[in-house]
Amino acid sequence: MLRVIRYSAFALLAMVAGLWAYAWVARAPGQGVGEAFAQRLAGVFGQQMPVPGAGGGGLQLPGGISIGGAFSLTRQDGVAVTERDYAGRWLLVYFGFTYCPDVCPTELGRIADVLDAMGPGGDRVTPMLITIDPERDTPAALADYVSRFHPRMQGLTGTTEQIAQVARRYRVFYSRVQRPDMSAYLMDHSSFIYLVGPDGLVRLLFRPDTAVEEMARAINVQLRANTAS
Ligand code: NI
Repeated sequence: MLRVIRYSAFALLAMVAGLWAYAWVARAPGQGVGEAFAQRLAGVFGQQMPVPGAGGGGLQLPGGISIGGAFSLTRQDGVAVTERDYAGRWLLVYFGFTYCPDVCPTELGRIADVLDAMGPGGDRVTPMLITIDPERDTPAALADYVSRFHPRMQGLTGTTEQIAQVARRYRVFYSRVQRPDMSAYLMDHSSFIYLVGPDGLVRLLFRPDTAVEEMARAINVQLRANTAS
């Protein structure tokens, strides 16, 4: 009996170690190993883990937890904006930066695809990039960048402190990475797509690997539920 327990414990340990190694290798660029590990673990143990996106059509935040809210930033046309300027509108928000070599362009392209896939509902949603690299992402740089993804996409920047504030409200992680072999720095950052409701609060969180059709469906459901109430 003891031997069985010992073997099961060993097997479990080996599985966890294997998952950790797999998470290390398979994690998305910019994703922490811990986060990737939690995702793999959730994949094995079912959906009980509190991992964003685990619910399929995006993670609905548990009651009592609110993400989003007030911010004070500058739009790509140089105009100062706050959350009040977006009251009553649905937003699909991504936090990233224009120098990002791969993940950000992929996710912004995905946002544009989701709006297309939503049909008429897509017109009610404003796509938005909020930079976590305000030092380089000036309004002009953002204007050029966001226009490549969607004609209605907005790009918001701000002071270092303003960006830190909005990132805190959206639980966004970011940090500067300087590689010895590169002259320009990179930004390590968490990568989720946020559906923000007309009240300025996050309704759904989407993991980077969520399918476009799945996101489109989940967002349309939210829009319809809101119209009905
Ligand atoms: Ni990025």
